[in-house]
This record gives sequence, C-alpha cells and structure tokens, in this order.
Amino acid sequence: MRRVLVELAGDNTSEDNLVLIIAIIIASAALVLVAIAFAYYCYLRHKARAPRQEGTYNGSTSEAQVFTYKQMQAATNNFTTSNEVGQGGFGSVFRGVLPDGRTAAIKQLDRGGKQGDREFRVEVDMLSRLHSPHLLELIGYCADQEHRLLVYEFMPNGSVQEHLHSDGTSGRPPMLDWDTRMRVALDAARGLEYLHEMVSPPIIHRDFKSSNILLNDKYNAKVSDFGLAKLGSDKAGGHVSTRVLGTQGYVAPEYALTGHLTTKSDVYSFGVVLLELLTGRVPVDMKRPPGEGVLVSWALPRLTDRNKMVEIIDPRLNGQFAMKDLIQIAAIAAMCVQPEADYRPFITDVVQSLVPLIKHNRPMRVLSSPSFLHAIVTVKSSSAESGSSDCRSSHVSF
Ligand SMILES: Nc1ncnc2c1ncn2[C@@H]1O[C@H](COP(=O)(O)OP(=O)(O)OP(=O)(O)O)[C@@H](O)[C@H]1O
Ligand SMILES: [Mg+2]
Repeated sequence: MRRVLVELAGDNTSEDNLVLIIAIIIASAALVLVAIAFAYYCYLRHKARAPRQEGTYNGSTSEAQVFTYKQMQAATNNFTTSNEVGQGGFGSVFRGVLPDGRTAAIKQLDRGGKQGDREFRVEVDMLSRLHSPHLLELIGYCADQEHRLLVYEFMPNGSVQEHLHSDGTSGRPPMLDWDTRMRVALDAARGLEYLHEMVSPPIIHRDFKSSNILLNDKYNAKVSDFGLAKLGSDKAGGHVSTRVLGTQGYVAPEYALTGHLTTKSDVYSFGVVLLELLTGRVPVDMKRPPGEGVLVSWALPRLTDRNKMVEIIDPRLNGQFAMKDLIQIAAIAAMCVQPEADYRPFITDVVQSLVPLIKHNRPMRVLSSPSFLHAIVTVKSSSAESGSSDCRSSHVSF
C-alpha cells in the first residue's frame, strides 16, 4: 500500500513537471506572438505615416538630396543671367554645378514661399523616387527659408520645342530630322507609359508638351515636370494658373470643359506633340490664315486622307520618310487627339505602335543649314577659348 502511495506521489510529480513545461512553452509562444504582433503594429504605423516613402515607386528607396540656398547660389554663380537657360511657368531655370561637381539644371520657383513647406517636401521627395531612362531625373531640392528650388539632371540639348520651332539659322538649335523625331516620340511615350502604367498610383502629367521634353547629349528624349501640377497655386493674380489648366493648345477638351482628368488627357497632349513633330507647327498660332490657327482642328481631317496628309508634313522633312510610315504615324496621331477620351488609345498601345517605326541602325541626326554649321564651329571655338562648359551645340553629329 505504501509502495502504491509512493508511486502515485511520483506520478503526480512528473505530471506537475509536464504541466509546468507545457505552461512555459505556451507562455514563451505567447510572448513571441506578442512581440511579432507589436513589430507588425509598428511597421503598419510607420507605413500609414509615410505611405509614399516605402518604395511604392519602382521599389526605389533613394532619397532626394536636400540643398541649402547658399549651395544653390554657389552652384549658379549667384543666379547670374549668363547661367540662365530658360524661363517657364514656375520661374527661371539656371545651369549650375553642384558640390559633387555634377552639372544640374536648377529651377527657381517664383511662388516658392507660398507653397506649404511640408507639402512641397513630400511631393518633391516622392517625385525624386521615380526612375526611368525616359524621365528627367530630379536630383533634389532646396526649401531653405522662403526659397523653393528644384534640382534636375542637366539636358545639354534643351527642349524639343526649341528645336522644332527654330528656323535653323545661326545661333538657333538645329532642326530634328524625321528619324530623330520618331525616336523622340517613342522616348516621350515611354516616359508617359512609366507614369501611367508602372507607378502606383498612376501619375497624370497634366502639362505634357514639347517644352517639357528635353534632349540629352545623344538626343535621347526625357519627359520633365511630371506630377508638378500640384505644386502650383490654384490662383495666380486672379487668373486660373496654367499649372492647373495645362498649356493652351495641349489640353484635352474634357479636361478644359469639366476639369475631369484621366490618363487619356495626357494621351491627347501626346497627340498634339506628335502633330508638332509631324508638321513643325505650334499648337496655337492665330496669325495663320483662318482655319489653320488651331493645329488639331486643321490637321485632324487631313490625317485620315492619304492625299492630304503629305500636305501637312513639315516641308523640311521632304524625302526623309516612307509613305507607309507616314500613314502609320498619322493614324496614331489622329487616334490620340480624338475629342472623345474613350476613343483614344492607352499610352502603352501608342508605344507598341511606334516601335516598328524606329530605325534602330541609323545614327541620331539633326538637320542644319550651313549657317548653323558655322554657328557650331563658332560656339565650339569660343567655348574652348573661354573654357565654358556649355555644350548645348557641341554634341551635334551630321
Ligand atoms: N533639365 C534641364 N536641362 C536643360 N535645360 C532645361 C532643363 N529644364 C528646363 N530647361 C530649359 O528651360 C526652359 C524652361 O523650362 P521650364 O520647365 O521652366 O518651362 P516650360 O517647360 O517652358 O514651361 P512649364 O513651366 O509649364 O513647364 C526649357 O524650355 C529648357 O530650355
Ligand atoms: Mg517645363
């Protein structure tokens, strides 16, 4: 009987131990679970606080560089006019050399101080995370006191607008030939495709136009000023700013009439640029004869008529294109500028249609008059003499 009691007592002890071990295991597992849950909670909170900082855009986590106003002054030689390369709706653009030696385009925002500081920083930081060979790289920004500046990669060959609407005379940027224009169209379409299809949520450019397509030293085109519309104020001097409404001649009818904005609004603007590339005309020119002032209204009926489409082509392109290519590109342009947004293609379809029109084995060429050739020689020798780094005209090949 005693033996039985001892055995029973022994059984109880091992059962207690078992219970204890199980309790410890359960408690440890619960602790681990609590720790995991807490870590996940912290991760979610961080994500909620900075939804656009988590590499949503192409998985990139690179940061925008932040510059002081002093650094911007030093880069541009105190914003000297000889460093000014252009002016736009935001303000002046200067060529500058950054502390790391890199040449950059520095855009000084006129209305900088009125823009909410945090909003400016968040937006610009987000835009600097977009990376595509077809988008202009935003290197960083300056939000020092009331100053607002954007720092971009420098594009030595300026904007497509300058090339298209130049007369090729001395000192002007050279004209682009047919093949280069087709490449520009494809590069720009790919830039928009990235914004529309590869970014989440999609970015609508809102101000796509030939002055926002810039050319590097090899005449590769990059889209600029994407997503910046939000940074402009709604009202400027009592007028609705072009930032909100886009630029005259490029704005899709439904956006102009109702403010309804979709990616198809950008496709319309792309169609207008395509017409500029084909005709060499500006989107709106009221000095032209009646019926020819608005590029889309004048060109659209002619784009679908094989006999008339040749008449609208930039006369400087004579003999440079095959008729079958012209028919194809005219059809793409006609689709893009359809008044009804639903009838316009998606930009991805445009990219697919443009690819076969690109001649891969031909070098980039620009058209030039003999007087411009002289200008290049002059620019080259004078910049060599002065030690200037301006290479706007020095990368032209013939
Ligand atoms: N990254 C750059 N590299 C070289 N030149 C540039 C660069 N960005 C702009 N420019 C020059 O400055 C000019 C003005 O550009 P900006 O973007 O300020 O005005 P815009 O394109 O005419 O109008 P918007 O303000 O509506 O975009 C361009 O036409 C171009 O010649
Ligand atoms: Mg611009």
